[in-house]
Amino acid sequence: MTDHFDSGVTMLKPAANNPATRPSLTDALVVSVNAKAENALSLLRQVSIEFGINNVTFANSFGAEDMVLTDIILKHALDIEIFSLDTGRLPAETYDLMRATEKHYNTKLNVYFPQADAIETYVKTNGINAFYESIELRKACCHMRKVEPLQRALKNKSAWITGMRAAQATTRASLPVREFDTANQLEKLNPLSDWTEQEIWAYIRLHEVPYNKLHDQFYPSIGCAPCTRAVAIGEDIRAGRWWWEDPQNKECGLHVKK
Ligand code: ADX
Ligand code: SF4
Repeated sequence: MTDHFDSGVTMLKPAANNPATRPSLTDALVVSVNAKAENALSLLRQVSIEFGINNVTFANSFGAEDMVLTDIILKHALDIEIFSLDTGRLPAETYDLMRATEKHYNTKLNVYFPQADAIETYVKTNGINAFYESIELRKACCHMRKVEPLQRALKNKSAWITGMRAAQATTRASLPVREFDTANQLEKLNPLSDWTEQEIWAYIRLHEVPYNKLHDQFYPSIGCAPCTRAVAIGEDIRAGRWWWEDPQNKECGLHVKK
């Protein structure tokens, strides 16, 4: 079995989203990111009007994409709620960003936590880090720490919004901007579906959006601390997520299709 406790990349090399290699703001990039931001804003506006107040909610994991959407939603005061799932195993840098976000936008976060009794039973039965031992135990952990709280966050909503992009993963290659989420029985919007990673970082730089400091340490995709590591040059954006599993298993259950 892989040694999960030696998971850091020892020789740091430029990765796709390393600050050293992030895009310079060329005129062409600024034009494309501004156009895409306008499209995202009008989609979000249209959805908030279509479904009405208290009916649309945005799942914010505090990754780079989600900070772009947070900026658009809060700066334009759209009628869209924002919630986050605190699994209890997030990196310290994500908690720092949660607080920085509250201060930057003068807002209060809506955070959902797992059910304590489910965690207590799982840990007692399987051990605190049992997710390394099998896909079943990993999925069970994701279910109780993410999926069940997500179901509570989506209760009585008509539509939800994610920061997913098609280019992030093979499992997301055909991600539509709008779809019906059959697993959760509501509309699902992915306004950044066609954005490139360069455009995400261009937006963050142009608008001085706060972001997770782990992105500066070769973490392009960030989830729970024990299931996320840095990536090396040439590695896939999601190579650092559940790195001991096959790429086709690398979804936590938030975005399954039924
Ligand atoms: S995951 O399925 O592998 O965990 P990823 O980290 O790429 O997903 O995030 C995809 C989208 O799922 C995010 O843009 C966000 O909308 C939602 N999401 C993921 N994790 C969380 C979280 N902890 N809290 C709220 N939303 C989340
Ligand atoms: Fe558990 Fe890891 Fe899933 Fe987080 S990402 S909920 S720690 S298995």
